[in-house]
Amino acid sequence: MRKNSERVQTYGNPIIKNIILEVITLMLKKARIIGTGSAVPQRILTNKELEDIVDTSDKWITRRTGIKERRICSKKLGESTTVLARQACLNAMEMAGVSPQSIDMIVIGTVTSDRMFPSTACMVQEALEIEDIPAFDVSAGCSGFIFALTVANNAIRCGTSKRILVAGVERLSSIVNWEDRGTCVLLADGAGAVVLDSTTEEEGILSTHIKSDGTAGKLLYSADGNPYTPEILQDILDKKPFHLKMDGHRLFKRAINCLTSIAKEAMEHNSLSSKDIALVVPHQANIRIIQGLAKNLRIPMEKIYTNIEKYGNTSSASIPIAMDEANRKGLIMSGGYALLVTFGAGLTWASAILKWSI
Ligand code: ACO
Repeated sequence: MRKNSERVQTYGNPIIKNIILEVITLMLKKARIIGTGSAVPQRILTNKELEDIVDTSDKWITRRTGIKERRICSKKLGESTTVLARQACLNAMEMAGVSPQSIDMIVIGTVTSDRMFPSTACMVQEALEIEDIPAFDVSAGCSGFIFALTVANNAIRCGTSKRILVAGVERLSSIVNWEDRGTCVLLADGAGAVVLDSTTEEEGILSTHIKSDGTAGKLLYSADGNPYTPEILQDILDKKPFHLKMDGHRLFKRAINCLTSIAKEAMEHNSLSSKDIALVVPHQANIRIIQGLAKNLRIPMEKIYTNIEKYGNTSSASIPIAMDEANRKGLIMSGGYALLVTFGAGLTWASAILKWSI
């Protein structure tokens, strides 16, 4: 590949040469992942244990969702959204071989921050002792990680940031209604993170696509109020207004259609076919949704990474956790194309194509 300086060798004037060089460098600028990390709570909650909590069975949960167990935060162990996110970020930075002080932005996808505000990103910034950088959350349900990745990718492409921590983290156990068997068997806690760095090579994030449909928001939502309702509104609090509500049956079909269309859009945008994709890392909502996506894309299940049996649906954390596992197992080779694809509350759906570069 020709160096940028060689591309402008024909221009004699050094000032014009420098300007052209800067413009070309900016045009070629991409974001690439240089480290991945994840962190999950210690407490494992099995399907068998759930049989004692709601009217369900290991057989039903396994057959209808693919989930065998999930991780749930423990107050006693001091686990929280911030604690998990901090650990996932530290693991990603350790793999990348970079220090917290070299990070110039933090973007976190979450809908279960420990507080209404400040944001989880600001709390992680404090925990990592990083001063004077922008840190903020993105709320996009299970699509939170790819929405956050999109914001960070754009910041690197336009030159306002050089190295960014992007994470997806959830503590869904805090908003799940533990009397609703339709949701409490699915949702769980965890965190995943990546370090994004700037590159001018033909690698990294090739594209991201993000979409929303607010008119269908009632299919999956939480909070007519919020968990911090004052005592004066105790009667509302007693009705647990912040509990998550979901019409799983109607979401199911919509999820497969949205995942398929946005995955196809990503491949078409990059002139890639299903055969070019080395690994698909989908949101882990339901194994039957993932199988439906695989069928529609004509991609064999061997090329689709799943870990839903161990972690359940961790919303915005599911893709970065799965990507970290796949990366550490050496399942994505440098130079191979990875397709990330997700669907969630909003409704929101999103995809990204990466030319792997670790
Ligand atoms: N155990 C036993 N039976 C159950 C359970 C359970 N845990 N949950 C529901 N059932 C029952 C229902 O009550 C119903 O019984 P009925 O026929 O007597 O009325 C029966 O099982 C079938 O219920 P359905 O809802 O039709 O079951 P379905 O096959 O659709 O599976 C599920 C339900 C797993 C929720 C599925 O619809 C799903 O995965 N939906 C998509 C979820 C999703 O993608 N959400 C968006 C992303 S998540 C996010 O953003 C946080």
